Amino acid sequence: MALINENYLKLKAGYLFPEISRRTRAFAQAHPEAKVIRLGIGDVVKALPRPVVRAMKAAAEELAHDETFRGYPPEQGYDFLLQAIVDNEYKPRGVEILPEEVFVSDSSKCDSANIQEIFGTDNTIALTDPVYPVYCDSNVIAGRTGMPQDQGRYGGMVYLPCTAENNFVPDLPKEHVDIIYLCSPNNPTGAVMTRQALEAWVQCAQRKRAIILYDAAYESYITDSKIPHSIYEIPGAREVAIELRSFSKTAGFTGTRCAFTVVPKELVAYTRSGDAASVHPIWYRRQTTKFNGVAYVVQRGAEASYSPQGKRAVRKLIKYYLGNAKYMCQRLTASGYKVYGGVNAPYLWLRTPEGEGSWDFFDTLLNKANVVGTPGAGFGAAGEGYLRLSAFNHREAIEEAMDRIARL
Ligand code: MLT
Repeated sequence: MALINENYLKLKAGYLFPEISRRTRAFAQAHPEAKVIRLGIGDVVKALPRPVVRAMKAAAEELAHDETFRGYPPEQGYDFLLQAIVDNEYKPRGVEILPEEVFVSDSSKCDSANIQEIFGTDNTIALTDPVYPVYCDSNVIAGRTGMPQDQGRYGGMVYLPCTAENNFVPDLPKEHVDIIYLCSPNNPTGAVMTRQALEAWVQCAQRKRAIILYDAAYESYITDSKIPHSIYEIPGAREVAIELRSFSKTAGFTGTRCAFTVVPKELVAYTRSGDAASVHPIWYRRQTTKFNGVAYVVQRGAEASYSPQGKRAVRKLIKYYLGNAKYMCQRLTASGYKVYGGVNAPYLWLRTPEGEGSWDFFDTLLNKANVVGTPGAGFGAAGEGYLRLSAFNHREAIEEAMDRIARL
């Protein structure tokens, strides 16, 4: 008799974004005349930068000749991309990362879901609330939690509420925690962690001998020069943190797929008997066993996003989406909504109208304005009463969406 992994049965019905797509599809089928504007999932809409496409075409051409053909890519990434990441993401910020500490992958989503499996199942996990659902669900699937309780929270997990009162930045936990997920700029709230807040978290992890999984997939949207782009800008972070980054929302790679995770050599976790075990070789072991690397063509494209023309094009893309976010903040505020985020992040975190829950407001927007958002409650109990809007759309669509919301 084949037994199922019953942890899957603990999960709430469906993963958040497919559920929103399902509801949106059902609405569009019932109202074929409606022109639905999607500001739900954070998927980019602008074309790949020209230098990226040129590099990808040249790489594809190399594969068309026996002399330059390449088979399996190195599991950790080609040297040219590892070096480009170190030279462009870390060196200019005075951060020392070795190329061999970088693991190129197909996505931060996968890395953030997979990384937990190299840690023991007895670890206590700390999650912000609201939170990117992958961090939570991957730990549920691994068996680190009990059943969902009130408001969909899982037993055994430590939740760190992020509310308007704490500027959506989590307070340090009073209880015992072993693995801490942090995300800045934050998905979904758009909040950012200051240097001071990050220092406090790094010191907290040092005290608790805990590990921080730091998701910085949106770091290129930081506009405030005082906000750190990498957790490794904080002294001591190399001993306690893993950092996740992505080309998805920078160079427009949501369809092309490329990301990377940094695991410093100093980072250790512990055996039950208290011996230190280096994390880097274990993640390497995991990746070489379960992952076959990212396509050569894609890695050449990612590398080209660091060329002078590539950087210019990437900056233009980010400016475009941040321009959308700024415009949305202005229009929504003028329409009487309380809006957070959208300054150092492509996401706006909108208070729903008095007395209207997240999913109710999602329905109102869909039915009355034909605009799709993401209900805050889908990101956790503390997201109730909020709705996330993404700035990833064409400006004309954003303007139309804001007009429609203003008319509600
Ligand atoms: C989001 O909308 O939260 C993101 O697009 C999801 C992701 O990057 O996986």
